[in-house]
Amino acid sequence: MIPTDIDGAGRDILARAQALARHSDSPDHYTRTWLTPAHRAAAAQIAAWMREAGMDVRTDGAGSVIGRYEGESPGAKALVTGSHYDSVRNGGKYDGILGILVPIACVADLHRRGERLPHAIEVVAFADEEGARFQTSFLASRALLGKFDAALLGRRDAAGVRFDEAMREAGLDPAAIAANPADPARLAAYVEVHIEQGPVLLGEGLPLGVVTAIAGGTRHLVTVTGAAGHAGTVPMAMRHDALAAAAEMVAAVESRAKSQAGLVGTVGLLEVKDGTGNVIPGEVSFTVDIRSGEDALREAAERDVFAAFDAIAARRGVAVSARRNHAVRATPCSPRLQDLLAESVAAAGAPVRRLPSGAGHDAMVMAEATEVCMLFIRCGAGGVSHNPAETVTEADAGLAAAAVGEFFRRFRQAA
Ligand code: GLV
Ligand code: MN
Ligand code: MN
Repeated sequence: MIPTDIDGAGRDILARAQALARHSDSPDHYTRTWLTPAHRAAAAQIAAWMREAGMDVRTDGAGSVIGRYEGESPGAKALVTGSHYDSVRNGGKYDGILGILVPIACVADLHRRGERLPHAIEVVAFADEEGARFQTSFLASRALLGKFDAALLGRRDAAGVRFDEAMREAGLDPAAIAANPADPARLAAYVEVHIEQGPVLLGEGLPLGVVTAIAGGTRHLVTVTGAAGHAGTVPMAMRHDALAAAAEMVAAVESRAKSQAGLVGTVGLLEVKDGTGNVIPGEVSFTVDIRSGEDALREAAERDVFAAFDAIAARRGVAVSARRNHAVRATPCSPRLQDLLAESVAAAGAPVRRLPSGAGHDAMVMAEATEVCMLFIRCGAGGVSHNPAETVTEADAGLAAAAVGEFFRRFRQAA
C-alpha cells in the first residue's frame, strides 16, 4: 500500500463497512449476533473479499473466517491480524469491522503487486467478541487458541435457544468448537486495527494512534431475589422489592467507580423477571462491568462493590448472587511492535500518538499466545462508539491501510 493510494483504499473500506452492516439481525438498526442468518451471511461476504484479495480461506469451529496470504516460502509463520464481525445491539458499523477490512485491503495490494513477504499474513474475522447473544466475551479468539469454556454449551440466549443448538442450526459442530487450535509456535505476532471508540485522537486532531496497553475488565451477571407481591396491598414496610434493592446496587457501582481516577463501572443490562406495572418485583438480574488499566485498582473496586451489594441485600431482606462471565487482565502491547507500528504510522505520513485502550479487544486473548500490538483509527462524531452514530473518515481509513501495509513489510519475527 503506498500513500498515494490511501483515498481509494479508504473509500473501498468504508463502502464495504456499509455493505456489511446490511447483514443485520434487525431491519431497523445494525445488530449482528453470533450465528444468526445475518451473521452467517456476513461471514460469507468476508470470505469472498478475502479470496478476491488472494487469500486461502477457512472457517474454524466457532465460525471465525481466516484468510491466509502465503509468505515467500510456503508454511512460513504467520503475522496474524484481525478483529470481530459481531456487534453490540444497535451498534456502530466500524467497531471490529475496520480490523478486518483494513488488512484485507493491504493484502489485496500485496497481491496486485505480486509481492510476498518473509512471513505469511493471516487475517482473522473473529465470529464473536461482543457476546451480545449468549453473554459471552472473546468467545472466538478463545476458541481459536483452543481455550473454549465447554460450560457455555448449555447456556441459553434471550429467546431460549441453547448455545449448542444454535451451533447445529448454523451448521457447526459443538464438539469441535475448539478443535485444531492455532499453534502458538506458528504465530509470529498479532496486530489489531480498531476504531478508537473514544474522543482522544479526535480532540487532538490526529488520525491514528499506537496503543500502549489495553485495560483489564470483569463482567458479572447479578441476580437479586426478593418477594413478588401485589402493588396495591403489601404495605411499604413489609416489602422485599428486588428492583428497589437493585437500583441501590446500580448506584453503588457508579459511586465506587467515580471515587477513583482510572476506574470505570457500568450496569448496561437490567431485567425484571415477569415485570408488570402492578406487581412488586420479585427477581431482577443485571450486569456489572468494571474496568481499569491497573488490575489491583479494579480488583479492589470489585471487592467493595460486592460488599456493598451484600450490605444492601441484608438491610432490605433480599438475596443476591453473582456469576462471573468474564475476567481479563490488563494487557500491555509489545514495546518492540509499538515502535514498529509508530515507524509505520510516520512512514504513512501521520503524526505518532501513543495512547491506552479503555475498550477490550481480541488482542487481549491473542496476547496469551504471542506478542501483540494495536493501531487505533480516529473515531468521529465526538468519539461515540457502541452506537449507530459511530463514524470514521475515508482519509483516516486510507491512512490506516497505508500504515498497516508499511507494518506488514517492516515486520520481522522477534529474535
Ligand atoms: C468491547 O467492545 C468491549 O466491551 O470493550
Ligand atoms: Mn465493541
Ligand atoms: Mn470491538
